[in-house]
Amino acid sequence: MTVEPVSAPKPDAESIDWEALRAAATAAMRNAYAPYSHFPVGAAALATDGRIVAGCNVENASYGVTLCAECSLVSGLHMGGGGQLVAFSCVDGNGTVLMPCGRCRQLLFEHAVPGMLLETVSGIRTIEEVLPDAFGPRQLIEFGA
Ligand code: THU
Repeated sequence: MTVEPVSAPKPDAESIDWEALRAAATAAMRNAYAPYSHFPVGAAALATDGRIVAGCNVENASYGVTLCAECSLVSGLHMGGGGQLVAFSCVDGNGTVLMPCGRCRQLLFEHAVPGMLLETVSGIRTIEEVLPDAFGPRQLIEFGA
C-alpha cells in the first residue's frame, strides 16, 4: 500500500487563527442536514497548503448511515486537491467547541500532519493526545500488507 508522505513542520498553536477556524466551522454548521438528531455540527480545518476546508453533518433516515461533519471535511480536503490537516475545530449548533467523536478522531488521524492541533473542550491538543497509540497506515506498512 502507499500513503501520501508527510513532510510538513509540526504546527504551532500561536500561529493558528482559531477564531477564524471556529467561524468557518460555525458557518459550515449552518449547512447541516440533521432532521433526526436536531444536533447540527460544523467542522473546519487548515490544510497544509493554507486553504480552509469545512464540513457539516449529513444524516440519513437509516440512522447508522449518518455522515459526521468530519467526513464531509475530509472529502472536501481531497476534492480540493489533497494535502494534510494542520489545525482543526468543530462546533455544535450553538457554535460551542465540540470534541470529535471517536470514529472521527480515527478519520482525522489518517489525514493529519504529525502534531495536528485541535481546539478541544480542554484547550488546544494534538491529534496524538486525543487518539493515543493510534492504529494507522504505519501498522499496515510495517506488517507488509
Ligand atoms: N456528529 C458529528 O458530525 N461529528 C462528531 O464528531 C460528533 C457527532 C453528528 C452526527 C449526528 O448527525 C449528530 O452529530 C448527533 O450525533
